[in-house]
Amino acid sequence: MALPFLSRGGKMRDQIVVVDLGTRTTKAVYLQRRGDDYTLARYAILDAPVVDKTPSPDLLGEHLKKVSESLEVKAKRIGLAVGANDSVLRTAELPLMSAQDMRLMLKFTSKNYLQQDFPDHVFDCHILPPRQGAAEPAKGTPRCRVLVGAARKQLLSDWQAAAKIAGLTADQIAPGLIGPVNAFERAHPDIFLKEIVALVDIGFKSSTINVLAAGELMLSRVLPFGGDKLTSGLADAMGISYAEAEGIKVGMPQEVESTLQPLIVPLGRELRASIDFFEHQQDKVVGQIFVSGGSARSEFIVQNLQTELMVPCKRWNPVTFLNPTLPPQQMGEVEQIAPQLTVAVGVAMAVA
Ligand SMILES: Nc1ncnc2c1ncn2[C@@H]1O[C@H](COP(=O)(O)OP(=O)(O)OP(=O)(O)O)[C@@H](O)[C@H]1O
Ligand SMILES: [Mg+2]
Repeated sequence: MALPFLSRGGKMRDQIVVVDLGTRTTKAVYLQRRGDDYTLARYAILDAPVVDKTPSPDLLGEHLKKVSESLEVKAKRIGLAVGANDSVLRTAELPLMSAQDMRLMLKFTSKNYLQQDFPDHVFDCHILPPRQGAAEPAKGTPRCRVLVGAARKQLLSDWQAAAKIAGLTADQIAPGLIGPVNAFERAHPDIFLKEIVALVDIGFKSSTINVLAAGELMLSRVLPFGGDKLTSGLADAMGISYAEAEGIKVGMPQEVESTLQPLIVPLGRELRASIDFFEHQQDKVVGQIFVSGGSARSEFIVQNLQTELMVPCKRWNPVTFLNPTLPPQQMGEVEQIAPQLTVAVGVAMAVA
């Protein structure tokens, strides 16, 4: 599902660099294309330039320079992933026309189609295939189902300015929410096409859930819960600093099992509510949950989520289809880090 807000690419490129500007952690991947095959040549994980506020273009520019240096990549064109809280992703029924015309129409009349005004936003549209067994369209203007993405114009121009400061060109900017879906389609094509699954990406302040049924995106939601709540809850419960709690959570969660376990319950409840909504509305059952994001690096957290949700939960590796040709140290670590790279890998597939 390609859905860049800004796409000035045109030609297929053989070097793809995508930076996922997460709230807490920046993740970047450098992919090389050979024909239809991709290889993961390098990745980078860095602390975000600031937490709790929007970085200025100058600060972000310096940060992107560091990211590009640590990837040791010569390519100057990069793709950027916009976080779930800074972008909008909806499905809508629109009159059948070119994606370019849809973008223009939404710019002026978004409320008619998205039930809400989105002033000063940039839109992009991805036309979806008709639903299996869908009723014949009524007479009149033919319509189609469209995945619509949007982000504030100001954010996009700030990010482009930041890339320029870093000596780069951000010619592709896409919603991060679509990342797990794209990566999953490549990593598990059979499950993607046949099963009903939920993809959960646990972030820092928020998490996302995408429900897929036989290749169709049925539901996308952003939930106000992430790794930050686990660390601050642990710090409060144990009377220790945030940094100490973070160290324990990441390094030895088994030692604090009884304190950490109840902190995961609210995330389980939020996810359960979204899954219940889908299951009741569609009369279908989610069979498996695939978990990504920084917190999915912890098997302990994923296992506790499974206990709470009573649906098999798995951490998954989005780089399996990328034939990694990483330097030795990264090769040794990639299996452990991979769940955190999901959004970057998936957006790379959208902009490739
Ligand atoms: N091994 C680990 N065990 C548990 N938690 C971990 C581990 N490694 C990282 N985390 C947690 O992952 C979180 C960061 O995850 P991630 O990088 O997916 O967030 P983000 O992309 O920056 O946030 P968002 O998607 O909300 O913008 C932090 O809260 C961190 O504590
Ligand atoms: Mg994230």
